[in-house]
Amino acid sequence: MEASADILLSEDHQAIDKLYDEFLDVKRTKPQEALDSFRKYKISLLRHIKCEEDLIFPVLLKSPKEPASEEVFTLREEHQIIIPLLMEVENQLKQGFDTTTSERSLFEELHEHNAREEMRVYAAVDRLLNEPEKRAVAEALKSLRLFAPGPQS
Ligand SMILES: [Fe+2]
Ligand SMILES: [Fe+2]
Repeated sequence: MEASADILLSEDHQAIDKLYDEFLDVKRTKPQEALDSFRKYKISLLRHIKCEEDLIFPVLLKSPKEPASEEVFTLREEHQIIIPLLMEVENQLKQGFDTTTSERSLFEELHEHNAREEMRVYAAVDRLLNEPEKRAVAEALKSLRLFAPGPQS
């Protein structure tokens, strides 16, 4: 069965966004569970980023003429901004500090980043990855489905 890497990766963005909304809800209604909820979100996003770093970007970089490859440098830099922001929010939650400012930075950074991946990169990924590579991506992202059951389950 042919898996579309484009769809899988975009669906993951949505699943991860859902976990973020869930966290905001939990923070408001059951603040004592906010840290656990945020960690669920953090783990999912880190898995997604690792999948891109390990399985997607190297393939793009093998095709330097592909315009999407030009995005890799910036996307990697943005991952290096997003990861510390995740840690920052987690630490603030642990210490009972207000997380609003860090949350907003994280949300804004991620929103821009995901939009660019979806508009400029993921379609090319689908063209450039061979079937075994696509299956590896599907496998790497599968764990996310534990949190957000999708049609593939
Ligand atoms: Fe990314
Ligand atoms: Fe992504």
